[in-house]
Amino acid sequence: MKIMIVYSSKTGNTQMIAQAIHQEIPGAELFSVEDAPSPEGFDLLVFGFWVDKGTADDAARDYLQGVGTTPTALFATLGAYPDSDHARESMERATALLSGAPLAGSFICQGAVDVGLQEWMKSLPPGHPHGPTEERLRRWRDASTHPDERDCEAARVWARGLIREERS
Ligand SMILES: Cc1cc2nc3c(=O)[nH]c(=O)nc-3n(C[C@H](O)[C@H](O)[C@H](O)COP(=O)(O)O)c2cc1C
Repeated sequence: MKIMIVYSSKTGNTQMIAQAIHQEIPGAELFSVEDAPSPEGFDLLVFGFWVDKGTADDAARDYLQGVGTTPTALFATLGAYPDSDHARESMERATALLSGAPLAGSFICQGAVDVGLQEWMKSLPPGHPHGPTEERLRRWRDASTHPDERDCEAARVWARGLIREERS
């Protein structure tokens, strides 16, 4: 089975998950989205993005829109909690970009939020919708250690299941 893993990553979180998945599927070809060829001719695309404004980041969106019919499994990292509505909706929005490709599975975990973005949000005036609420500060703190080894192991387990499913 020909498998390609492609990831879009700004600060390294999604790349870390892509590498964990690659450890589980060492025969797969691994590319960053900037260098990735078309998935045409592959049996499975395993594609990772970082969540930006509640959907896949721009580079990931561009790539996903051109995927064609290759079965695709999606993984992502985000600052929000992975079991939140926001995580589910972000994954749904990314899935909707796959117009002709069947979704083979999905995986999402938390990823540390860029410190520069945090500093900018902390500088916003009180009451600003993107300002640093207690809840947001707690979420950033919780995200700051992710992806961790448990996330990487969960991604490897997910990839194992994916391959088993595709082969059956
Ligand atoms: C400009 C920007 C926008 C972001 N938007 C969201 C968002 O809408 N929801 C969210 O949960 N996390 C958001 N994040 C957090 C990232 O999705 C998260 O830190 C991710 O793990 C980054 O992945 P990377 O290290 O692979 O770039 C945002 C981060 C940045 C820098």
